[in-house]
Amino acid sequence: MGPNPPTPMPDLSGKVAIVTGGHTGLGFGTGIELAKAGARVYIASRSESKFKEAKRDIVAEYPDADVRFLQVDLADLSSLNRAGRKFLQEESNLHLLVNNAGVMCVPYEETVDGFEMQIAVNYIGHFLFTKILLPTLYKTAATSSKGSVRIVNVSSDGHAKLAPKEGIVFSDINMEEDYSVWARYGHSKLANVLHSRELAKRYPDILSVSLHPGTVKTNLSAGPISSTPLYRLIKPLVELGAPGPRKGAANILFAAVSPALKLGSANGTYLVPVGKISAPSKAGSDEKMAEDLWRWTEMELASRGFE
Ligand SMILES: NC(=O)c1ccc[n+]([C@@H]2O[C@H](COP(=O)([O-])OP(=O)(O)OC[C@H]3O[C@@H](n4cnc5c(N)ncnc54)[C@H](OP(=O)(O)O)[C@@H]3O)[C@@H](O)[C@H]2O)c1
Repeated sequence: MGPNPPTPMPDLSGKVAIVTGGHTGLGFGTGIELAKAGARVYIASRSESKFKEAKRDIVAEYPDADVRFLQVDLADLSSLNRAGRKFLQEESNLHLLVNNAGVMCVPYEETVDGFEMQIAVNYIGHFLFTKILLPTLYKTAATSSKGSVRIVNVSSDGHAKLAPKEGIVFSDINMEEDYSVWARYGHSKLANVLHSRELAKRYPDILSVSLHPGTVKTNLSAGPISSTPLYRLIKPLVELGAPGPRKGAANILFAAVSPALKLGSANGTYLVPVGKISAPSKAGSDEKMAEDLWRWTEMELASRGFE
C-alpha cells in the first residue's frame, strides 16, 4: 500500500460524489479517500453485497464516512435510468461524477440493448448515466466555486495503443468482425477521451477530464485471462512494479479534486499519472470525431427510448 491519501486532499465536507465501480479496485481507492475527506460518496455498483463489504472496510478506517449504495448495471440502460432517478430523489446537488467502472478484453458478448460488452459498460452506459446527471451537475456548478464540479472519465493509454488508428468505427460500433478483444477495449477507452472533450465543449462550467490511471494491480486482468488464457503467463510481467489500487488511484483523485486543474486550461484534457496534462492520440484529439460520437450516441440511445 502506498502513501495514504495518495494525493493531497482538500476538505470535501458538504460535497456529493458518485464513483461507478467504487466497491473495488481503483474505484474503491478513489471512493475511500473522497469519503475520508468528508464527501458523501455514492458507490454505484451492481452488487449490494459487494458494496456492503466495501463500506465495512471504509468505515473500519474512517468511522464517520458517509458512503451510500446506488444500484447500477452499466450493461443495462434501463438500470441507469432507474439509478439516476433514485439519486435525484435523494440529492439535489452533485459535485463529482467519477466514471470509473470498466471491463477489459472480455470475450465478445452483446448486452440486452444490443451493444458489445466493452463499449457498452466502458462508454455507452457512462454516457447515459452522465446525461441523466448533467442537469444536476450543471445546477451545482452554478453555486459552487469555479472548476470544483467535475466529471472524470477513467480511460486508459490503451485508447492510443490499442484502438483502430482511424478512431471510432461508426460503421460497426460493436467491432464484431475482424477485431480483437484488445482493439475493442482501446476503442471503448478512446470513446471515454472523446466524451470528455465534447462534455467540456458543451458544458464549459463543468470541468471534464479523461485520464490514464497507470498500470495498477486490480481485478481488471480477469477479462484478458478469460478471453486469452495465455495472458495469465504474461500478467506478472505486465504488472511488475505496479502499485495496488489505493496508491494507484492517485491520478483519479488528482483529476477529481486538485485545485491545480483550472476550468479554463484543463477542461477537456487527458491526464497521465500523476496530474500531467498530456496529448491523447490523434483520434482522441479529433474534435469532429468527438462531436460525431456524441450525436451518434444520442441517436442510438433515442432509438432505444433513452432520451
Ligand atoms: N488497472 C489498470 O491497470 C488500469 C489501467 C488503465 C485503465 N484502467 C481503468 O480503470 C478503471 C477501473 O478498473 P480497475 O483496474 O479498478 O478494475 P476492477 O478492479 O476490475 O474494477 C472494475 C469495476 O467495474 C465494475 N463493473 C464492471 N462491469 C460493470 C457493470 N456492468 N456495471 C457496473 N459496474 C461494473 C466492477 O464491478 P464488479 O465487481 O461487479 O464486476 C468493478 O467495480 C476501468 O475503467 C479501467 O479500464 C485500469
